[in-house]
Amino acid sequence: MTLEGRTAIVTGGGRGIGKAIAKRLAGAGANVVIASRKKEVLDATANELSGLGGRVHAFPCHVGRADQLEALAAETERVFGPVDILVNNSATNIGQGPALQVTDEALVKTMEVNVLAAHRLIRRLVPGMIERQRGSVINIASIAGLRPQDGGLVYSFTKAGLLMMTRVWAVEFGRHNVRVNAICPGLIQTDFSAYFWQNEQYMAQLTASQPIPRVGQADEIGGMALYLASDDSSFVTGQAFVVDGGATTR
Ligand SMILES: NC(=O)c1ccc[n+]([C@@H]2O[C@H](COP(=O)([O-])OP(=O)(O)OC[C@H]3O[C@@H](n4cnc5c(N)ncnc54)[C@H](OP(=O)(O)O)[C@@H]3O)[C@@H](O)[C@H]2O)c1
Repeated sequence: MTLEGRTAIVTGGGRGIGKAIAKRLAGAGANVVIASRKKEVLDATANELSGLGGRVHAFPCHVGRADQLEALAAETERVFGPVDILVNNSATNIGQGPALQVTDEALVKTMEVNVLAAHRLIRRLVPGMIERQRGSVINIASIAGLRPQDGGLVYSFTKAGLLMMTRVWAVEFGRHNVRVNAICPGLIQTDFSAYFWQNEQYMAQLTASQPIPRVGQADEIGGMALYLASDDSSFVTGQAFVVDGGATTR
């Protein structure tokens, strides 16, 4: 799967799943801009991933801010040219807890980062993809968007929203050869999910019920993202790919 000459943006590309995706895309030859809030993390990752094939450029950006998203798009075009691949991966989970205790502020802020950022980047970048009749958008959702979780009202709502938006975007952009897909990871061993994989009781339950009885690794999402970014998936759009060790089979 080659991505030679392609330009990609991966939000949250400094660590975790986003870093694994950036590594796969750069390894296939794409030039990749990684973007999130912490400049030092991004710089270290850009450094680590240099020499894989494509170039990796770090750009600090709070994805909940419209002006910073515009700056990210403009910087990517300036450094690498028009964007072919957009990976909406950054997310927050500040609103975890009983539904009746969720504040308006937690709900709105989570929506800004987990949903509105993708909408804004798509509105900014997809017109160019349509003009060039080529593009792949990959939204990192979650199995939490497929089934309810106790205490997960806000996070699950944003991921479910992202999944439906993925399908609507796919319907509208497909005729222009711009594809939009989502990946729904199960439990993957990153900072984000440390609360779960560091919890022995939770892990005992998971290994008893999940067909592949272990926590997943970020690169196991990276491989799926590379497939969706590449022309190998040229007839695939509007889908949600579940990568969860079989957790949702029962
Ligand atoms: N790990 C799992 O078990 C799991 C399961 C299902 C879905 N997911 C999804 O996978 C994606 C990646 O998560 P992960 O597990 O890799 O977590 P992670 O290692 O904690 O990474 C989260 C990334 O999001 C960035 N981010 C957070 N808030 C941001 C903001 N306001 N603006 C810009 N970037 C922001 C972080 O960078 P900064 O802190 O530098 O901003 C970081 O790079 C998320 O969409 C998450 O919902 C994860």
